[in-house]
Amino acid sequence: ENDATVSIVVVGASGDLAKKKIFPALFSLFYEDCLPEHFTIHGYARSKMTDAELRNMVSETLTCRIDKRVSRVEKMDQFLKRCFYHSGQYDSMQNFVELDRKMKQHEGGRVSNRLFYLSIPPNIFIDAVRCASMSASSGNGWTRVIVEKPFGRDSESSAALTKSLKQYLEEDQIFRIDHYLGKELVENLSVLRFSNLIFEPLWSRQYIRNVQLIFSEDFGTEGRGGYFDNYGIIRDIMQNHLLQILALFAMETPVSLDAEDIRNEKVKVLRSMRPLTLDDVVIGQYKSHTKGGTSFPAYTDDKTVPKGSLTPTFAAAALFIDNSRWDGVPFLMKAGKALHNKRAEIRVQFRHVPGNLYNRNLGTGLDRATNELVIRVQPDEAIYLKINNKVPGLGMRLDRSNLNLHYAARYSKEIPDAYERLLLDAIGGERRLFIRSDELDAAWALFTPLLKELEEKKITPECYPYGSRGPIGAHYLAARYNVRWGDLG
Ligand code: BG6
Repeated sequence: ENDATVSIVVVGASGDLAKKKIFPALFSLFYEDCLPEHFTIHGYARSKMTDAELRNMVSETLTCRIDKRVSRVEKMDQFLKRCFYHSGQYDSMQNFVELDRKMKQHEGGRVSNRLFYLSIPPNIFIDAVRCASMSASSGNGWTRVIVEKPFGRDSESSAALTKSLKQYLEEDQIFRIDHYLGKELVENLSVLRFSNLIFEPLWSRQYIRNVQLIFSEDFGTEGRGGYFDNYGIIRDIMQNHLLQILALFAMETPVSLDAEDIRNEKVKVLRSMRPLTLDDVVIGQYKSHTKGGTSFPAYTDDKTVPKGSLTPTFAAAALFIDNSRWDGVPFLMKAGKALHNKRAEIRVQFRHVPGNLYNRNLGTGLDRATNELVIRVQPDEAIYLKINNKVPGLGMRLDRSNLNLHYAARYSKEIPDAYERLLLDAIGGERRLFIRSDELDAAWALFTPLLKELEEKKITPECYPYGSRGPIGAHYLAARYNVRWGDLG
């Protein structure tokens, strides 16, 4: 095995994701000596480029955590020597045969494992899979394919995509990526729950009043409107990133940490959820806003967005898990672009202390101040627990404070990018953090009826100004369940 080679093919090598995430992640892994001894990287795309031009592109766009190190330069040269470029069409068998030939030259007769990272739009996806699997798969080792979302737009298109994929690949060759699963604090969720006695017993309707999954970005679609308008925020963020976090948060204890055991539990919890209806959501779209002399565009000002588009750039939703652990507990999701900050967090609001002495006797005004556990996925990773305590002094006044695990203060090592972990796992054949096809089906089953209804009834999103906290409707939605969004303080 140690003598085997891995050829990593980045299909769509000149695209944004490849430049911003895939090459930098591969370099970080190389820098940390995590890649196998024998590996080569092959960029593949339609544009004409030489190896030297690809290397130049990779080194220039290398915005990863290793960036500022002095020793980077030498490692970078070693890394770039292993990068090659092959120009070809995504649906040309002939071009993939040529790629195969090139890879063979570098593999030098060793056992050759091949990892294809498909970083290309969905309409050319299956063509590329067909060509790669028929003309460029490994003859004597494994062949794996990493696929990026969108995996379809709804249940039917996703099922059709899976069916086509399975004409060419076995399920165990398909690595469906959801990069949120590779984020450090998302991975830590299970550690927090299952290795701390103090949390797991509280993890149910008995003690938890509501759970909030919040995603916000402080920029709009900026040039990505063409892609985005076809999907909208519910498909872009909720159906995958936030729902995956929810599944990990709410699943039952898996039999082991094995990939199948974990994914079995995730599927079960997803299948226990109630499909959403119009009543459970609020959608929004940002409009232009001028602040401090700078004016920020509306979503529909984006040249790549069709005029009059009703695509939501914001959504808030209430979800329910109809099982014995979570019966009646609202899971509130909120996701939006062009908001006032960039953040992803999980907030767990606990129930009131029954018969709280301090509220009764002191009128502390803290009656709403229940405990809250916050897992800040990004930026500035942290886990903190809001507790009530006495203000020091002779009197008796209560205050709220945080028990805080602040990653930057606790650890000096930087946190790896999600793509690093996921690429490493795909190379190692570890499937724990990838989406199984039944999980995907369950996720679409939850959102498809709602998405259809929104589109058929042409529901108009509520406007919110660029850079604001989103539409007011989100507050009403939460208030209906007696909840206040925790991120609003
Ligand atoms: C992607 C979405 O999956 O995630 C983007 O398509 C979004 O719209 C991105 O910006 C956010 O990822 P991160 O890691 O920057 O939070």
